[in-house]
Amino acid sequence: MVYESKHPLVKHKITLLRDAATKPKKFRELIREVTLLLSYEATADLAVKEGIVQTPLETAVGYELQDKIGLVPVLRAGLGMVNGFWEMMPSAEVWHIGLYRDEKTLQPVSYYNKLPTSPTVGVCLVLDPMLATGGSASATIDILKKWGAKRIKFVGILAAPEGIAELHKNHPDVPIHIAQIDERLNDFGFIMPGLGDAGDRQFGTA
Ligand code: PRP
Repeated sequence: MVYESKHPLVKHKITLLRDAATKPKKFRELIREVTLLLSYEATADLAVKEGIVQTPLETAVGYELQDKIGLVPVLRAGLGMVNGFWEMMPSAEVWHIGLYRDEKTLQPVSYYNKLPTSPTVGVCLVLDPMLATGGSASATIDILKKWGAKRIKFVGILAAPEGIAELHKNHPDVPIHIAQIDERLNDFGFIMPGLGDAGDRQFGTA
């Protein structure tokens, strides 16, 4: 399933992210804010377990998330999405996966993975602002499935239709939550009209 946000605040903030005049400080704030809004949408079907809470007056039925949540930011650009989720789920674990896309072949190259031997979380949320060819997201989810992750969701900010199709083909069981779906990929594998390179624009390395 593919879920594209319809939220007016998301649309407004994506426009500011696209703007070439937006500087890295503002860009980072916007990535965090859009992620915060996406976190609300992407977690809407998480299971809760019932418990009892003591109010100042009496006891009440309360709820807590049933599963431990793992945030899996794809380095580098996914790092900026961690805080938006952490504000809503401060006890989520964060497991970094390092991949970069080879500029010529556009294939993902893995360079960092410190996952422990077996899964420590019940739900993994893969965070990467850009779903372009879909290679990096597919490779990350391959790694998580080999690790033994049972339930995985992908959360991104912009996607090309080609990336959505590739990720869906490789991992049809993984829901895709995207702020906005763009028109196409260009010949260099960039999302068009896009927002440029989300890693470079966050880290000031453009
Ligand atoms: C970008 C982006 C994704 C990937 C998307 O990362 O953040 O990880 O490319 O492309 P794909 O869907 O075609 O695989 P990049 O390789 O530029 O690394 P960075 O995050 O370190 O800038």
